[in-house]
Amino acid sequence: MSEVMTGVPVHVSMIMDGNGRWAKERGKDRVYGHFEGVESVRACVEAAIENGVRYLSLFAFSEENWNRPDAEVTALMGLMVKAMAEEMEKLHRNGVRFMVLGNRARLSDEINSTVDSCMELTKDNDRLTMIIFLSYSGKWDIMQAALKMAEAISEDPGKKIEIENRGVAAFDEFLVTAGIPDPDLIIRTSGEQRISNYLLWQGAYSEFLFTDILWPDFRKKEFCDALAEYGKRDRRYGKVK
Ligand code: IPE
Ligand code: IPE
Ligand code: MG
Repeated sequence: MSEVMTGVPVHVSMIMDGNGRWAKERGKDRVYGHFEGVESVRACVEAAIENGVRYLSLFAFSEENWNRPDAEVTALMGLMVKAMAEEMEKLHRNGVRFMVLGNRARLSDEINSTVDSCMELTKDNDRLTMIIFLSYSGKWDIMQAALKMAEAISEDPGKKIEIENRGVAAFDEFLVTAGIPDPDLIIRTSGEQRISNYLLWQGAYSEFLFTDILWPDFRKKEFCDALAEYGKRDRRYGKVK
C-alpha cells in the first residue's frame, strides 16, 4: 500500500468555526475573531494555490446565522463587503475565480452588487475557484433545487423521464453548486463535530477532518497538514478494494 493514496483533493471545503471563542479567549468582542478569521482565509487561498487545489469553498454565513444578534450580523456583512473590496484585485491577479453561493435574496443590495462585480471581474480565471457560501444551508439548497426541477418538469413533462433515466446526477444541475465538483475534503475547525446544515447533498462522500484549532489560528501549516492527512485516506465509495 502506498503512503499517498488519494493525492491532492480537487475541492477542499472549510467550515470556518471558532472565531467567537478565539476572541473571547483574548477578552475581546466576537467581531474581533471574525476580523482575524479573514487572515486565515487569505492564508488558505494561498496554500490552496500553492498545492494545486482547484476549488476552495468556505462556509462564511449560514441561513441559521441570521438568528444571531443584529450587531454581529451587521458586523459580519460589513466585513464581507470590506474583504471583497480589498482582496479582489489581488485575487484576480492571482487567477482566482470568485463566487458567492447561497440564498442571495436575503442579502442586502450593497452585498449583492459587490458580489456581482467581483464574480463578473474574475469569471474567466481558472487557477483556483474560491466559493464563499453566504446565507447558505444544505436543506435550503435541496429545497430550491427540488422547486426548480418541478418547474422544469411542469414546463416540459418529457423532462421527467429524462431526469429519471439519468439518476441522481441529474439533480446536481439544480443545486446552487451546479458544475462544481463535490468536495473531496470538508474541514471543520474549533472542535465541533457536526455538519450544521452545510453541503448535505454534495458532501455525501466527502472525507471529513475535524480539528480543535480555532479558525483564526488555521493558517498555511494547518492547511498543508490537512492535505497530508487527506492523502492517507482510502476512499472506497462502498466498493471493495
Ligand atoms: C464562525 O465562528 C463564524 C461564523 C459562524 C459566522 P463563530 O462565530 O461561530 O465562533 P464560535 O463558534 O462562537 O466560537
Ligand atoms: C457553522 O458554524 C456555520 C459557519 C461556519 C458559517 P456555527 O457556529 O453557526 O454552527 P453551530 O451553531 O455551532 O452548529
Ligand atoms: Mg460557531
